Amino acid sequence: MSTYDARFRIWRGDADGGGLTDYTVEVHDGEVVLDIVHRLQATQAPDLAVRWNCKAGKCGSCSAEINGRPRLLCMTRMSVFARDETVTITPMRAFPVIRDLVTDVSFNYAKAREIPAFVPPAGLAPGEYRMKQEDVDRSQEFRKCIECFLCQNTCHVVRDHEENKPVFAGPRFLMRIAELDMHPLDAAEDSGLDRRRTAQDDHGLGYCNITKCCTEVCPEDIAITDNALIPMKERVVDRRYDPVVWLGNRIRRR
Ligand code: SF4
Ligand code: F3S
Ligand code: FES
Repeated sequence: MSTYDARFRIWRGDADGGGLTDYTVEVHDGEVVLDIVHRLQATQAPDLAVRWNCKAGKCGSCSAEINGRPRLLCMTRMSVFARDETVTITPMRAFPVIRDLVTDVSFNYAKAREIPAFVPPAGLAPGEYRMKQEDVDRSQEFRKCIECFLCQNTCHVVRDHEENKPVFAGPRFLMRIAELDMHPLDAAEDSGLDRRRTAQDDHGLGYCNITKCCTEVCPEDIAITDNALIPMKERVVDRRYDPVVWLGNRIRRR
């Protein structure tokens, strides 16, 4: 087994401010960045704050930015960096820092709460639901989400514009609305909830200009833009310009 000493630059600080601190840490074959952060805690910086849980790319806790790219610390192998490269680790930029690499991601939980849950179909008990396999497959892709919030952190609509946060749910939660809207058994409309209208009017779907940066950083390789956001935009347009819906709205407004 070979080992080498690698240079790291890690953001240390809290909500009042901070800066990059240099470290040299031993690296062993096969290690990931989170291993190095743990070794750093064990040997040089016991107070370094980092959030993690599974170390298997499944809990979504260890999100951060490595050399400026949003990534999971536990799924980034040290072998992707040159041995003489300085690896810089910073907290996610779109969310407020609590301490060191740990950010306050409660923005995302607030957005999650704003989306009404699946509405079960009337007259069918659980176990009696029947769906086509293609509908199951479609939502299955979206359900791979581990809620790492890397897509939320990356989307320029909020990353560069804090003022948009109140009106933009972000790719992860627009994808959730799309999943529910595409669900053949969701009976939201029967209860007066128009998911397409709320996506556009209340959750900021129109702010998305399909740059696909969210898709690029998703560790689950979910085609967020192509399979959720663009189809959702098309569904909104279909609804808005459907002549029957248009006529119905006119009559209702009288
Ligand atoms: Fe993370 Fe992908 Fe889910 Fe976004 S969609 S929160 S990037 S797993
Ligand atoms: Fe943002 Fe993804 Fe749309 S990065 S602009 S939500 S395609
Ligand atoms: Fe769970 Fe990285 S520690 S995803």
